[in-house]
Amino acid sequence: MNDLAMAKPTHKAGFDVTAARRDFPILGQQINDKPLVYLDNGASAQKPIAVLDAMDRYYRQMHSNVHRGAHTLGDRATSAFEGARETVRAFVNAGSTEEIIWTRGTTEAINLVANGLAGRLKPGDEILVSQMEHHANIVPWQMIAERTGAKVVPVQITPEGELDLDSFNSLLGDKTKILALTHVSNVLGTINPVAALIEQVKARGVFTLIDGAQAVPHFQPDVQALGCDFYAFSSHKLFGPTGIGVLYGRKQLLEEMPPYQGGGEMIERVSFERTTWNVLPYKFEAGTPAVAEAVGLGAAIEYLNGFDRAAMEAAENRLLERANELVETVPGMEIIGTAKQKVPVMSFKIEGLHPSDIGTLLDQQGIAIRTGHHCAMPLMDFYGVPGTARASFAFYNTVEEVEQLFTALQKVQRLFA
Ligand code: ALA
Repeated sequence: MNDLAMAKPTHKAGFDVTAARRDFPILGQQINDKPLVYLDNGASAQKPIAVLDAMDRYYRQMHSNVHRGAHTLGDRATSAFEGARETVRAFVNAGSTEEIIWTRGTTEAINLVANGLAGRLKPGDEILVSQMEHHANIVPWQMIAERTGAKVVPVQITPEGELDLDSFNSLLGDKTKILALTHVSNVLGTINPVAALIEQVKARGVFTLIDGAQAVPHFQPDVQALGCDFYAFSSHKLFGPTGIGVLYGRKQLLEEMPPYQGGGEMIERVSFERTTWNVLPYKFEAGTPAVAEAVGLGAAIEYLNGFDRAAMEAAENRLLERANELVETVPGMEIIGTAKQKVPVMSFKIEGLHPSDIGTLLDQQGIAIRTGHHCAMPLMDFYGVPGTARASFAFYNTVEEVEQLFTALQKVQRLFA
């Protein structure tokens, strides 16, 4: 460890939410004269001091451009940047850092893959997605389908918000070329059985992309165990900075795929006669990358690694359990998404109330939730609603906050009843 390296948090047994909350300065403030209750983690999670400090330190002591190698600051920046890539590799258990591509986020990662696989699609080919996908895992495929004559086909879901496996089996066929599926639904919280589905389609030579944006804040994926070709996630939902995300891709496929964007860094040699591409992962990283953000994401993962993850997950699950216990205390409240396997995300409606009114009235009480279609309009169509209200919990939320949410919902309901 050189003197610039961050001290690594130590691993603790059990999980102490009060201690964890002290790591997040933003949580300590008052909103509308009430203590902030932040339950919009699915949209974007808050950042621990470890991330803020790592980025501050990077800019104060290390900043320069990376991979230019001519001076000490450049070396420091490069080693912090590539160190973060290694931290991400270990986090998802990829075989090599060549398989870890920095992107701007999940959305760009999926666009990169859609673009890279377009050359393998022909008219009539099918791209299987699901009814519960976020727009980021629908629209890029629609754009590629438009270009190639392929078709985007949605797998149906059950009223509880689980993938309908009969629908999946009936749609999977010779025309299926790509399966693009979310690991966890941002609206329903459903954890999809992605490992089994990947295994099933792999035998048919179908390419698989898993949108892990809502999974990684709650549990650690293992891309080798999953066996997927691609896995995408964003830093800002994983307690890291905005503006950066990750695409894991299987090396052989990444090598075969064309670059996504052209420019500096992604080339080996440029001439007007012929330009050749850089090696992985740089072939997919045109332009100066988001260096400080990579360092911040690395720090977020290191921070999480300092916890007893099993105890942390158990504490999160307790939040959802408590929320489920309290649903009946709010007349007319209905949960949307009651899958057996869920992360602590609770979408709901209350009879006679518009979701945006619920959001505004909760905000007056210091409680932040998200309302609207959650970038999942086809899912809203399935449930026949224009939008929902959604409380999405993180490990730093407390059972008391869940109870405050329900006290506030009771108040809102009484006001409008
Ligand atoms: N996709 C994010 C959400 O679910 C923004 O809120």
